[in-house]
Amino acid sequence: MSIPTSRFKDSANIYLDIDKCTGCGLCVEVCENSGFTLVNQKVERSDKSIFGCVACGHCMMVCPADVIAIEGRSLAPVQLFELPDKSTVPTYQDLLAMLQRRRSIREFKEKPVEPEKINQILEAAQTAPMGIPPSDVHVLVLENKQMVRSFAVEFSNYLNGIRWMASNWFLRLMRPFWSKATNEMMQGFIKPTFDIYVNEMNKGNNWINYDAPLAMYFYGSPYSDPADPIVAATYAMLAGESLGLGTCMLGGQHPFFQHGKKARLFRKKWGIKYPSREGLFVIFGYTDIIYSKGVKRSFADIHRMS
Ligand SMILES: Cc1cc2nc3c(=O)[nH]c(=O)nc-3n(C[C@H](O)[C@H](O)[C@H](O)COP(=O)(O)O)c2cc1C
Repeated sequence: MSIPTSRFKDSANIYLDIDKCTGCGLCVEVCENSGFTLVNQKVERSDKSIFGCVACGHCMMVCPADVIAIEGRSLAPVQLFELPDKSTVPTYQDLLAMLQRRRSIREFKEKPVEPEKINQILEAAQTAPMGIPPSDVHVLVLENKQMVRSFAVEFSNYLNGIRWMASNWFLRLMRPFWSKATNEMMQGFIKPTFDIYVNEMNKGNNWINYDAPLAMYFYGSPYSDPADPIVAATYAMLAGESLGLGTCMLGGQHPFFQHGKKARLFRKKWGIKYPSREGLFVIFGYTDIIYSKGVKRSFADIHRMS
């Protein structure tokens, strides 16, 4: 058994074409899992591997002589590709300009997102780092406005059915069990959000996902690092930006998918396989609003030590 994920429990297999090994030792250096050792200037599998091969692929990618083949846990040598030329990488200024121009967009043109762009977003998002390879991030893709709205309508109906969770009596009952911050968030954010989602949808206004032409829900499994879907969603958002799309992250939905029969039924209907601790939606579309300026934002705290 290697580090388990929802997809794989076993280690990947390591194959070595020893005759080609030049003894450079890069694989030994790069494998943080102590998977390799050099004996007489030739690579060998080490018996000190901590987890067995998790198939991060770094040894294959770093080897200049194509000595190593990893197979299993969704990895194989056919997945190797030549790196894009360094000159094609955006400069810091290019990247900063894109980041500064990004805004959370909630107003979209009546124009679908082309299937090619959906593929490009997914391709880019799959390059994201992940806690334990191979990725345990799952993605639900709602590919057009009808599907996105239909999800929002059903989500609103679902919320209506569990409205007691945001009722005054329930919040009063739970107060002794919640921290001050949780109580303030429930009163000041979750309860009003609940009400707005349902009441506005009853009037035909979609405040849940804004009738975007495309939505992607990134979520993990019980095995994954809770940050994995968030990192993947961030990559997807930036890919969308680079393709000229407006984007917005939506975090208000996943907490309500978590517990109980109704949540289970809702997840089943939409093919959401797991209640995810940190699922996150990203919506995409051609923006119907123009910003003239940006504002400088700041972290709560940057504590630098040297
Ligand atoms: C984790 C996360 C969850 C968010 N959830 C929502 C949401 O449910 N609805 C919404 O309209 N915006 C949501 N946003 C967008 C924020 O409101 C937005 O980032 C904020 O207003 C700042 O605007 P900016 O992104 O243009 O800088 C979310 C953003 C993040 C990072």
